[in-house]
Amino acid sequence: MSFANFSFPTPTLYGPGAISELATRCKRLSMLRPLVVTDGGLVKTATFQAVTEALGAAGKDRDWFVYSGVHPNPVEQDVRDAAQCYRDHGCDGVIALGGGSPLDVGKAARLLVKRPKLDFARFYDESDWSGLSPCIAIPTTAGTGSEVGRSSVITLDTTHRKAVLFHPELLAKLVILDPQLTVSLPPKLTAATGADALTHCIESFTCPQFHPMCDGIALEGIRLIVDALPRAYAKGDDIEARGHMLVAAAMGAVAFQKDLGVVHSLAHPLSTICGMHHGLANALCLVAGMKFCAARKPGIYRRVGSACGLEVLKCSDADADQKTIAFVADFLARIGLNTRLGGHGVKRDQLDALVAQAVDDPCHKTNVVPVSADDFRNLYLDVL
Ligand SMILES: [Fe+2]
Repeated sequence: MSFANFSFPTPTLYGPGAISELATRCKRLSMLRPLVVTDGGLVKTATFQAVTEALGAAGKDRDWFVYSGVHPNPVEQDVRDAAQCYRDHGCDGVIALGGGSPLDVGKAARLLVKRPKLDFARFYDESDWSGLSPCIAIPTTAGTGSEVGRSSVITLDTTHRKAVLFHPELLAKLVILDPQLTVSLPPKLTAATGADALTHCIESFTCPQFHPMCDGIALEGIRLIVDALPRAYAKGDDIEARGHMLVAAAMGAVAFQKDLGVVHSLAHPLSTICGMHHGLANALCLVAGMKFCAARKPGIYRRVGSACGLEVLKCSDADADQKTIAFVADFLARIGLNTRLGGHGVKRDQLDALVAQAVDDPCHKTNVVPVSADDFRNLYLDVL
């Protein structure tokens, strides 16, 4: 017999200017020598400046340090280097700062600090992972929601595929959601990361596991995104829209405790094989994935449509799905995400490799309907 498992445990500090609390919160968690894990692009920005000011001046005797070598689709070496930097400076906690990649590396580096010889490919063991050093997660994009996740996605050296390191101990001790840290995110990245959050909400809601609490969170996340994402895309300094997107992204990730579906299985190989941004990959596959599911499970998107503000409660199943999918297609087009894979360099001769990885990807195992290799091929062809 299997039981449902409900948990929403991450303390979250939200609000414009919340970053000013960082030094106090570090001390409260006994982080007196934190390591900031981020990427090379972010350290040149005003966002990073705001974080360092919140930590206090960096002088000769500074008590915080920076590792900024994280790659866009992080690899094992990023985690090893961050852990080495942590040890070199005698750190006692991690501040994971940035988009999904630095957040994932920051969370995972603590595993290697505890066990330097950890074999990532054999992470799924029954070992005791209690006692990891504390982590404060601070997202600077509104998409992956990795700040509230209990997993890190790292590309393995051996297989060149993304592996999901999953353990409740990976959770951050505190999440700081400060919309001011996201105002400089360019429109294209705002759109792509926001589309990732939207995909999380839609796929988690339609995933068939029993989790009414996540379902409610996913639907409210959709309502927030539908209103806030076009505003944040059009006007980057709309603080209310930025704030709602940050919260909605965290909600999407909380909701996908339930798991995800076919769209994420289509998207993951597009990143590992073609180097495509994860949010963009989801955006380009979302409508095709929804059509695929609706054709096999009519009515599946009625409540998604309702959360989008559509009058679909009294429609037939087919109408409700059609109206919802048309809305999502138009919504993505309005934020510049209606291009095709071929326009982003994906080639037809990559199809076999894409299909093979998509079949192996775990996300579609919890899709609302089964997905075969032929289905994946047709779905890729649909958006190529
Ligand atoms: Fe995602």
